Amino acid sequence: MAKEFSEELRDYGRIYMYRFKPDYELYARAIDAYPAKIKSASAIMLMIQNNLDPAVAQHPEELITYGGNGSVFQNWGQYLLTMQFLAAMSDEQTLHMYSGHPMGLFPSSKDAPRVIITNGMMVPNYSQPDDLERFNALGVTQYGQMTAGSYMYIGPQGIVHGTTITLMNAFRKILKENENSRGKIFLTSGLGGMSGAQPKAGNIAGCLTVCAEVNPKAAIKRHEQGWADILIDNMDVLVDRVNASKENNEVLSIAFIGNIVDVWERFYDENIFVHIGSDQTSLHNPWSGGYYPVDLSFDQSNELLKDDPELFKKKVQESLRRQTNAINKHASRGTYFFDYGNAFLLEASRAGADIMADNEIDFKYPSYVQDILGPMCFDYGFGPFRWVCTSGRAEDLDKTDEIALNILREIKATAPKEIELQMNDNIIWIQDAKKNKLVVGSQARILYADAEGRIKIATAFNNAVRSGEISAPIVLGRDHHDVSGTDSPYRETSNIYDGSQFTADMAIHNVIGDSFRGATWVSIHNGGGVGWGEVTNGGFGMLLDGTKESEIKLKNMLFYDVNNGIARRSWARNKEALYAVKREMERTPGLKVTLPNIVEDDLLDALYE
Ligand SMILES: NC(=O)c1ccc[n+]([C@@H]2O[C@H](COP(=O)([O-])OP(=O)(O)OC[C@H]3O[C@@H](n4cnc5c(N)ncnc54)[C@H](O)[C@@H]3O)[C@@H](O)[C@H]2O)c1
Repeated sequence: MAKEFSEELRDYGRIYMYRFKPDYELYARAIDAYPAKIKSASAIMLMIQNNLDPAVAQHPEELITYGGNGSVFQNWGQYLLTMQFLAAMSDEQTLHMYSGHPMGLFPSSKDAPRVIITNGMMVPNYSQPDDLERFNALGVTQYGQMTAGSYMYIGPQGIVHGTTITLMNAFRKILKENENSRGKIFLTSGLGGMSGAQPKAGNIAGCLTVCAEVNPKAAIKRHEQGWADILIDNMDVLVDRVNASKENNEVLSIAFIGNIVDVWERFYDENIFVHIGSDQTSLHNPWSGGYYPVDLSFDQSNELLKDDPELFKKKVQESLRRQTNAINKHASRGTYFFDYGNAFLLEASRAGADIMADNEIDFKYPSYVQDILGPMCFDYGFGPFRWVCTSGRAEDLDKTDEIALNILREIKATAPKEIELQMNDNIIWIQDAKKNKLVVGSQARILYADAEGRIKIATAFNNAVRSGEISAPIVLGRDHHDVSGTDSPYRETSNIYDGSQFTADMAIHNVIGDSFRGATWVSIHNGGGVGWGEVTNGGFGMLLDGTKESEIKLKNMLFYDVNNGIARRSWARNKEALYAVKREMERTPGLKVTLPNIVEDDLLDALYE
């Protein structure tokens, strides 16, 4: 095998152990189809196979689920061994996963998590992007992204919901009271794993989306899947169509095959006003094909990347400077541009682009968390809660939608005005979820909810599993991109301004706290979303099997999983979080959190006069 593996390393830059790739199909089967001794292990096997399903995963052959390099395992040998361990495990054992490598089963207890996952955890000084390439090629670490390496990816609907909420709120920020978003332009890029959700979210938010994608295959795939309404590959045609659609106040999503830099520049020359702008190229991974430079075709770029990576890097940086200049010109006309967590601002600044604010500390543009998701959702505890029906039956998913909708309506009836908007948006989302045909792979649903919503919905699911109203257990989870799960100074924690956005205590507390409060599996990763070394993020999975034990665990763990982050955000003096944590302490006597005493700015300023 040594010869074979060295050939893989030479040809692909990684050892994938293709000889161990199973010849059976990979997809989420019904839970009873898995040959495990315990239900929780079967559920994890189901989630792993869903993450590797070719209909769900971006590069299934390379065991990559999404985000360009988000791996479930490093090689097929690890996959097989892990499935074998899961099949054999009892409910008094825990499987420890080291960046895709199953270290083994260790004795534990019924209350312990069944699986503990770490991905890409490095000694801090060895966490530069080049280190990842080297250590990943050596086979000792992997980039787990967020939900890829934690078996919690549920296809693009996860990101559709977050993008819809972000866009709706972005429009709320810029539109006058009597205006709506029809015919208003949202210009962005990327039709890949996650970015491909943008046109669909644009349609749900009711605007005119133009999404540029350099890779024709990716653009065609998204169009064929119905995630973008029309496909255009000629700039003149694009300009004419956009002008006409604007005129007619159309709600339309256009997948444009071409480089985003060209679109920003041409729209400026054509005087096409862009209302909202963003970017979702894979800039967390700028030097290995995450971002394609302007003036080179897709194929030319790939050649250059292989033949002269240093020149490729220069071209990427030149292109980022050009893109920034064009965006700046649009912004001077009034475009609202925001960073959607792909490290655009960070990499543009590293490329020397004109992107810094006058104080030379901040960027000219906000991240979507600073302006939108942070203060409007995370600080109140709203985040991307999700579930999977392990029966694989669409009727079960319908039932869960109905249960969740009823609970949200119930909560809304007495909810304070501070969270009314969020409750309304989430009610609309869950009401229309089936109609929007969001399921790809397992029968799964995402729903932004706060601690109260998550706990009440999960309790009702557990009861429905017990009564047989839902035919098989439910897996609960969430994106790592949430209230408490992720420390990421340019994304999830970018709306924390007391300096602690560069610490990672919250994510670590979260994963440890969840693990002894009842999670079925927990994970902690380096590098999801914005890039290796830039973020620490964690998540959980929890099986609801209808038992009383499940009920105790879900209440205990979901409460901490949300309120840990609210407490930390309130300690950073975020006023929405301060409100939320005080409200929670009134309802929950066991919760006692250190509250900040707000000092008047004048008093502090006087100290430094
Ligand atoms: N904030 C969030 O919640 C969030 C969610 C999803 C993704 N992201 C980030 O967004 C980025 C994209 O994620 P993804 O899963 O879609 O990655 P991806 O690699 O699958 O897709 C990116 C796409 O951009 C295209 N592209 C690259 N350069 C281009 C250019 N100059 N012009 C036009 N198209 C270009 C690529 O061909 C690719 O298809 C990642 O950095 C990810 O971390 C953030």
